[in-house]
Amino acid sequence: MDGLQAGTLYNNISLKPFNTFGIEANAAHFWQATTPNEVIEALKLAKENHWEILILGGGSNVLLCTDWEGLVLQIALKGISVVPTEKLNEVLITAAAGERWHNFVLHSLELGLYGMENLSLIPGCVGAAPMQNIGAYGAEIKDTFHSLVALDRNSLQYRTFTKEECGFGYRESVFKSSLKGQYIILSVTFKLSAEGEVNIGYGDIQKILEANDVTNPGPIEVSRAVITIRESKLPNPEVIGNAGSFFKNPEIPESQYLELAKVYPTMPHYPTHPGQVKIPAGWLIEQCGWKGKKMGDLQNYGVHEKQALVLVNYGGATGQELWDLAITIQADVFQKFGIHIQPEVNLIKA
Ligand code: FAD
Ligand code: EPU
Repeated sequence: MDGLQAGTLYNNISLKPFNTFGIEANAAHFWQATTPNEVIEALKLAKENHWEILILGGGSNVLLCTDWEGLVLQIALKGISVVPTEKLNEVLITAAAGERWHNFVLHSLELGLYGMENLSLIPGCVGAAPMQNIGAYGAEIKDTFHSLVALDRNSLQYRTFTKEECGFGYRESVFKSSLKGQYIILSVTFKLSAEGEVNIGYGDIQKILEANDVTNPGPIEVSRAVITIRESKLPNPEVIGNAGSFFKNPEIPESQYLELAKVYPTMPHYPTHPGQVKIPAGWLIEQCGWKGKKMGDLQNYGVHEKQALVLVNYGGATGQELWDLAITIQADVFQKFGIHIQPEVNLIKA
């Protein structure tokens, strides 16, 4: 880990390499844990010293608005294991929280398993995936999720959560709401099968498969198509700092949509629950004129030119500048459409 050693306390560390926005912020204390015991050690240390704890995985869904005066605890537990179930061709596959999500997806594909392919190339680590029930291209982890093991930050007891107990919703779970800040996720288990059907109904997947003359796609071909689409639309955080979609796509009552559609007949919309429709926030933001805008004296941050839902740091922007931009965009969208868009990214303030 950038020359740092796990299970060791560091002081005064730059968090720039640990967040995909590439924001320069300082951690007063930093600890990387590669075992559950190292997690517990860090929790005890923080308690003794009255340090607030910030948990980080890959830092791909956070906006650091200030320096962190307490302890940053990076969860870096590794390992993937597979056990068969009593059902033929079905397995339970468990990944430790610090495994890179995309590596885990690739591992499942190498084993010939169905279920992860649509979630290819999502940045970050396995442990953060249940936090917001990560999703893409018509799949969410809740579709294949089996259970997870988490550590209670106060009692230091381990607890297993079933799918029902996680309260998954669109970019939601109990870990972001009722149980926020209480648990550290240590491992996640999925139920996958070597038999199944691929889900190619979303967006351009079918188009890419056809263009590549793939007639009978399996999970690997679907994964490749998803990767192609993602690479064409989303900025690579290694090149341009970003945290993916900055806002969630809002759900509004169908009646509100029908009123808006009289003024904006081309407004894209997707039915979700009865009487509710989802509107792409990227469309709303683009309509407000924000797509591709660059901000600041140095024009060093703004809204991505290909995807208006993605805020970007071209280099040197502060978290506060990006947050101020997000607030301005939010207000513009509300003023034009009467729709409140909510951040998906986790705002980190002291
Ligand atoms: P971090 O950013 O490190 O943490 C996110 C939150 O989870 C923080 O609040 C943190 O405190 C908490 N946390 C992290 N690990 C743990 C743990 N082990 N236990 C308890 N709490 C923890 N997301 C999608 O859903 N779909 C997408 O298609 C998608 N595309 C993206 C594309 C790009 C280019 C980028 C940069 C991001 C994208 N994201 C997407 C967002 C992001 O990749 C996911 O939210 C990912 O799961 C975050 O993982 P992480 O390890 O980086 O989490
Ligand atoms: N659109 C625009 N202008 C834009 C961007 C989008 O008009 O600048 C409209 C288009 O109509 C387009 C529609 O929005 O058809 C949907 O766009 P896209 O397929 O790019 O998906 P999205 O709704 O912007 C969501 C997720 C992504 C996920 C993709 C694919 C949210 C908040 N975002 O984006 O997740 O990868 O679908 O499933 O739900 C993330 O969460 O960080 C993330 C990247």
